Amino acid sequence: MPTKKTAKKIKNVLIISASFRPNSNSHALCQEVAKGVKAAGNKAEVIRLKDKKIGFCTGCYACQKLGKCVINDDANAIVEKICRADAVVFGTPVYYFSISGQLKALFDRCVAKWPEPNGKPYYLVATMAENMDWDLVKAPLQGFVDCFEGAKIKGFLKAGGVYEPGAVKKTKFMKAAFDLGRRI
Ligand SMILES: Cc1cc2nc3c(=O)[nH]c(=O)nc-3n(C[C@H](O)[C@H](O)[C@H](O)COP(=O)(O)O)c2cc1C
Repeated sequence: MPTKKTAKKIKNVLIISASFRPNSNSHALCQEVAKGVKAAGNKAEVIRLKDKKIGFCTGCYACQKLGKCVINDDANAIVEKICRADAVVFGTPVYYFSISGQLKALFDRCVAKWPEPNGKPYYLVATMAENMDWDLVKAPLQGFVDCFEGAKIKGFLKAGGVYEPGAVKKTKFMKAAFDLGRRI
């Protein structure tokens, strides 16, 4: 029996998968990250944005009084989960040297809980046809974490050279995603 001293705290890892494409490369990597998280004895939940309704932030700031957004869609519940998670992984295709618009829309909706979700590690997993300039790809997440005290980008997986749906499944990036999940 583990004593109180030696018992490991089980982490809740939230994985947000932003591609809408069938047989998505970034989603395949998100699933491998989840397997790695579980192999390490932690908990993983994968949320696929294609199954959710996420409207655009209108900048009305009603959230600053109400503590939640007035738009009645799936974002409030996801933002709550981001706030409660011990670590958050974002999986996205690269679109025009950046993250997907779907994911950026979710980042913007997080303003509803500001100054949360603070003080936690974030990870970025991105698939792309070419090997893009990583500073550009991660810039939106860097901007996001820089606005939440103690939040930081703790790790990333840059999966370049995958274009066709499912192409990533034959690459070394599957194991790299599993290993990333195990290290969280
Ligand atoms: C609108 C759009 C823009 C894209 N822009 C880039 C890009 O700037 N650089 C790149 O390497 N690949 C780009 N791609 C290719 C995707 O990043 C690539 O196919 C990726 O594997 C898709 O991941 P997914 O299967 O998870 O959606 C773009 C694809 C689309 C549809």
